[in-house]
Amino acid sequence: MIIVGHRGVAGRYPENTRASIEAAIELGLNWVEVDVQPTKDGHLVICHDHRIDRCSNGKGRIDSMNLEELQGYDFGAWFDDKFTGEPILTLGDLLELSNTHDLKLNLELKIDRHDPQSVCQLLKHQLEAHNITPDQIVLSSFNHELIRQLHRRLPNFRLGVLCERLNKKTKALLKEVGAYSCNIHYRWANRKLIERLHAEGFQVWSYTVNNPSALTHLTDLDAIFSDYPERFLPW
Ligand code: G3P
Ligand code: MG
Repeated sequence: MIIVGHRGVAGRYPENTRASIEAAIELGLNWVEVDVQPTKDGHLVICHDHRIDRCSNGKGRIDSMNLEELQGYDFGAWFDDKFTGEPILTLGDLLELSNTHDLKLNLELKIDRHDPQSVCQLLKHQLEAHNITPDQIVLSSFNHELIRQLHRRLPNFRLGVLCERLNKKTKALLKEVGAYSCNIHYRWANRKLIERLHAEGFQVWSYTVNNPSALTHLTDLDAIFSDYPERFLPW
């Protein structure tokens, strides 16, 4: 089973920042998951919420701000004073970390007001500019239209279809785009479901598992996302 650092090592570091990613590398993880969003001026940055209020000293929507404005805020001090000065992480910087440290990435794409096509185009440019190969990443999203666009525009890259629980629409999408994995909330994962998805050729990745005792009946999962990956090592 692969242990994926969720937003880096979000339990002990400010989520989705360079500090959090470097902590995952230090821990010896091969994979991290992060959330990717477009800025107003067409840059891709790493942040979970559509607003920066919770995880920075600023306020406002990511897609209403230019990158330069976002770079003026502190994304570390909200978590702990010792992370003061942590800037917003750009996708470009993260891809360089992946190249340098041989770190594999699950990029979860999030959009609010941007259209899926333009975000796929931005992502494609970044992946090409940093010479990212398909074995380095899995692209995922809860947004079905975005998944379809990723399938169309980045056909060589692996796709994870995100869902809370599996329903007919999600299952149809897995097949439609030839997804690599179904990324499902662990509460809705069970042995039978995992077995069925495996039989159909899909991996099953589950979020966000922070308590190892939740896994006792889920040993057949291919990967789990955890804010506390150290609790699961060595797996
Ligand atoms: O990609 C797994 C997980 O991160 C999905 O939910 O809201 O934590 O980004 P969320
Ligand atoms: Mg996520």
